Amino acid sequence: MNYMNEEKLLVRGGNKLKGEITVGGAKNSALVCMAAACLVNDGSEVRLYNVPQLSDIDVMIEILRKIGKKVVVNEEYVGISGTITNCNVPIQLSNKIRGSVYFMGVLLSVMGKVSCGLPGGDKIGPRPIDMHLSAFEMLGAECKIIGGKMEGEVTKELVGKNIYLKFPSVGTVCNIMLAAVNAKGRTIIGNAAREPEIVDLANLMMKMGIKVIGAGTDRIIIEGTKQVRGDIEHEIIPDRIEAGVFLSTVAMTGGEILVKNGVARHNYPLLAILGENGVVIKETDEGIKLISDGMLNEINVSIMPFPGVATDLQPILATMATKCARNSVITDFVFPERFQYIYELNNMGANIEHYSNVIKVYGGKKLYGTEVEGNDIRATTALVCAGLIAEGETTVRGLEHLLRGYVDFEEKLISLGADITKK
Ligand code: EPU
Repeated sequence: MNYMNEEKLLVRGGNKLKGEITVGGAKNSALVCMAAACLVNDGSEVRLYNVPQLSDIDVMIEILRKIGKKVVVNEEYVGISGTITNCNVPIQLSNKIRGSVYFMGVLLSVMGKVSCGLPGGDKIGPRPIDMHLSAFEMLGAECKIIGGKMEGEVTKELVGKNIYLKFPSVGTVCNIMLAAVNAKGRTIIGNAAREPEIVDLANLMMKMGIKVIGAGTDRIIIEGTKQVRGDIEHEIIPDRIEAGVFLSTVAMTGGEILVKNGVARHNYPLLAILGENGVVIKETDEGIKLISDGMLNEINVSIMPFPGVATDLQPILATMATKCARNSVITDFVFPERFQYIYELNNMGANIEHYSNVIKVYGGKKLYGTEVEGNDIRATTALVCAGLIAEGETTVRGLEHLLRGYVDFEEKLISLGADITKK
């Protein structure tokens, strides 16, 4: 599915939703696993299944080809082989996605040098890379930022170290894991992020013959090795954010949904919040089932690194809070400025106050359809879902962001009974 420039979704609210959807592969896992495929540099293939067809993935493929890798894409898998011939990632590509930052770790590891434009990604407040760069320096690379580019070089050799993080940053942990592969000895990451995407990366690396211990805990150990093997296959985990968005949407519209391939343990705190609001949740062999009457109480939550509620679900939770009977307070400790979308919700009739990294959402406020625009993946999603609980018609712009994060987002909603058309 593609959107033409200026295309909009017209969303008419009020329908209860019913049916099933299947969640695709996790975008953020696929991005880092695709970069990790470069650890195999003997020409053999790393074949990744369940890679979602998203525009961020297309950019990743372009970067892989730019540095010399061969990439085969078909309905079933993305196959990455060939050898790296060029260590420059141009800024025109790097600044389209955050995942480009992983070429720093992997190229330093495999090639000992890299020049990579600064990463892009969602506009959700400051997204520094200081922790990435200082970790590379600790491992023995010299890094600097010049003219919009990150330059890195291993002057002697990479040597494993104990690296303790001031915050459990997902990207920093993945980058250290990639860089540590070619470091001499053992690298230990303390206060590591525990997100499922990191566990997925570790599982892929272990298939390559790399010893990784502790992924999913706050202490990860990577043993450096020169023996990395290819000719392997790996299936990307299901996208916990897509699962969470569909569960949350049906919780607020009312109705029933089976989220096939949804992994409950990736979303336990979200399921707990929905349960507190009277929503019925069942874990089944096929996925996660939800039944809701659409009558919700309140959502008081602090967004934290995993296993906390994901920051990527924060906008949909705030949207849901507008429908709650009582007032809600949502605090985001991961991206304290990820609140730009609330002004659009307020234009629809919500009453949301914003103080620093906290929002107070007044309950019982009816939303009314109007023109709104999302400026990142999760904000645009939340605004489409706001349209589903609003009275009248909501026009949502910013659809290019949906393509970055979801395959067939509105088609899946329509299949559940949502009244959405494209204009
Ligand atoms: N941080 C620093 N310095 C650093 C790196 C991070 O201060 O060098 C801070 C960030 O500013 C932020 C916090 O650490 O306040 C957490 O950032 P993290 O590094 O964990 O995020 P990320 O790796 O840049 C990934 C996802 C995001 C997701 C976050 C948190 C990818 C490509 N992106 O970003 O996904 O929100 O982890 O789980 O994996 C999305 O998919 O919509 C999205 C934004």
